[in-house]
Amino acid sequence: MRETGSLVRNHNQRKSTWSLFTSVAFLSLIGALACGGGGSQTQTGPPPPTASPDVRADYLVGQMTQDEKIQMVHGGADLQWWNQTLPRGAGGWIPGIPSLGIPDLYFADGSVGVGNGVGQATALPSSIASAASWDLNEAGKYGQVIGSELAAYGINVNLGGNVNNTGREPRDGRTFETKGEDPMLAGKITAAHLKAIQAQYVMAGIKHFSFNDQETGRTTANAIIDERSGRESDLLAFEIGVNDSGVQSVMCSYNLLNGTWACENPYLLNTVLKGDWSFPGYVMSDWDATHSTVNAAVAGLDQEQPENIYFGSPLQQAVQNGQVPQSRLDNMVHRILRAMFADGLFDHPLTVQPINASADAAIAQEAEEQGAVLLKNTGILPLATNIAKIAVIGSHANLGVLSGGGSAQVQPVGGAVQFGGNSYEAKPCPPCWSAVIWDPDPPLAAIQAMAPGASVQYDDGTNASNAASLASNSSVAIVFVSQWASEGMDLPSLNFTDVIHTTPIDQDGLVTAVATANPNTIVVAENGGPQVMPWLANVSAVLEAWYPGQRGAEAIANILFGVVNPSGKLPMTFPASVNDLPRPVIAQPPDSTTPFNVDYTIDGFNVGYKWYDTQGLTPQFPFGYGLSYTTFSITNSQLSADTSSSSPSFQVTYDLQNTGAVAGAEVAQVYLGLPSSTGEAKRLVGWQKTSLTPGQQQSVTIQVNASDSSNPFSYWDVSSHAWLIASGTYTVYLGNSSRNLTTVGTFQMP
Ligand code: BGC
Repeated sequence: MRETGSLVRNHNQRKSTWSLFTSVAFLSLIGALACGGGGSQTQTGPPPPTASPDVRADYLVGQMTQDEKIQMVHGGADLQWWNQTLPRGAGGWIPGIPSLGIPDLYFADGSVGVGNGVGQATALPSSIASAASWDLNEAGKYGQVIGSELAAYGINVNLGGNVNNTGREPRDGRTFETKGEDPMLAGKITAAHLKAIQAQYVMAGIKHFSFNDQETGRTTANAIIDERSGRESDLLAFEIGVNDSGVQSVMCSYNLLNGTWACENPYLLNTVLKGDWSFPGYVMSDWDATHSTVNAAVAGLDQEQPENIYFGSPLQQAVQNGQVPQSRLDNMVHRILRAMFADGLFDHPLTVQPINASADAAIAQEAEEQGAVLLKNTGILPLATNIAKIAVIGSHANLGVLSGGGSAQVQPVGGAVQFGGNSYEAKPCPPCWSAVIWDPDPPLAAIQAMAPGASVQYDDGTNASNAASLASNSSVAIVFVSQWASEGMDLPSLNFTDVIHTTPIDQDGLVTAVATANPNTIVVAENGGPQVMPWLANVSAVLEAWYPGQRGAEAIANILFGVVNPSGKLPMTFPASVNDLPRPVIAQPPDSTTPFNVDYTIDGFNVGYKWYDTQGLTPQFPFGYGLSYTTFSITNSQLSADTSSSSPSFQVTYDLQNTGAVAGAEVAQVYLGLPSSTGEAKRLVGWQKTSLTPGQQQSVTIQVNASDSSNPFSYWDVSSHAWLIASGTYTVYLGNSSRNLTTVGTFQMP
């Protein structure tokens, strides 16, 4: 085992005499303290494994040459990294220092499963589906699949944890990787993912810090936002994610914030992250998001990725010149090493081995079953298994289910479904970055398996009248509509738009034609985020399946036929129209190099449902909404508040009863209205998902503490630069969506 405690060092080959070590350790201590890192102690030899990560890191920093330090603070890829295959197929790599027992770092994406074409891995449903479960235990299982499969591939650093606020821009092509528009839900679900990944001795990460909410011009977009709005929206999701998980690595984003690149933004990196949040780990840049040497190093960037343009020789030179203090370089290295110690990378080296494919596939299916959201049901669902004729239409449902593209793309176990016919589909995979991938199990077969006696016919949907004619001769029609999305692009609209076939399919027209031919039309949507559904009134049911992952077909069939009762709730508002968005037109870059403004002061801290609430807009489907095959009642709701202590809290207690005929789960949600002096809309402050058998009743308590990382009682005060609790009346609401609430009571804060 590569353990620092057992190292034998050849001191003749190094400058690391004891006196140099002590002076370096001293400087390191100064740097570490200055930037929120841990302290150094006088050592007589390598600290034992029981010593703190900070002590162990400081010891190593004290042993390292300047070249070795520089080696740790930049990626080991070359300038053509996208054409390069790195060891273990990783998306990034930093060679270790064997003589010091420092292991290689292998980086790979993993938002919805192991990315970067590392190898075949379990394709989980979208992260947005994990958020739609509103279930932190379920999210933990999701993270465990990612962590254990990365570990099996020998990848010890994950580039997942995308918690950007796509509520600001639901057309963002990466919405499927995110956890939606509410900072608390997004932050808590992300933290559950990260903790589970770290439990596998893989360093988890959170990204893209911050305000990277659109892909259009992502490398030059300049997010404009005021201090309070930033703290209460995008930054709050990161604050919760960082605090609740103890994550050790943060990836800064491509964009600028208020005129300064995120990866050299002292406000973001030093003031907020390392200062206010006491983040002890390290900041790596997004791939080629570093723009300078001195500015970036001094502003708080600790590692350039994936190569060494700024943090190789130019940094070495800058330290030599005194432009970057030696203590800062030592602190950068300290932070990286302490992160590696904290996540077990030294003490638990990974063994490359096969993934646990069948167990992980079962979790992928469960995640989809818990995260799919039933948006409409006139009573047609669940389907009976003895239906005579079923028409299955569109979206290659005979081949598989759609997945999202970009660095999050997974090569699914069993192989990606590919076929020729157009420029996207013909692209080979791997590399998968810009290919359109269908995960292998086809819904057509899964539906047939549920209704073995039925005649199940498929139409590809390219000709609406052929599809309508099949539907008119069927008992029910199940139309699959899809919206491909990817990193590197935003959606052209909120309508289901075919961006993958050379002759695009008019999916809205297809659904309308089928629903006209047969009113028993069920729509299954495969997409990454909010969509508008102009045909909604004409169809009998809509199931939001997101990108459902490699066992999505089975999960969808289980829901359609009632084997599973849907319980997902929307983690994002589905607006009625693109015109209701804070920015109906996506800000466009003038060219590929000039920064351009994206004005986030329009929605400010009223992101997502808060925007629709304050604007008086009725969404197509509100945040927190989702149907079940059973019904629930919430009665006897009561509020008890403790406002006297220094850490106030309140409890909502209610009786939840399953008043229908089948077992199911309901997510009760608590929202808090702050005093009007704060100018805030109501906000989500707690929830509980409860499973009940028919007729069963349970008393449930939701506890809300002001001290929670989500700062549920507080607004951000710009004069004191702190979270404050306003005096006045607080109103507590309870219900099963942000638009279906009753007032439980009020309390006063002095
Ligand atoms: C993405 C990151 C990703 C990195 C490495 C970048 O293009 O923005 O999310 O982790 O590539 O694949």
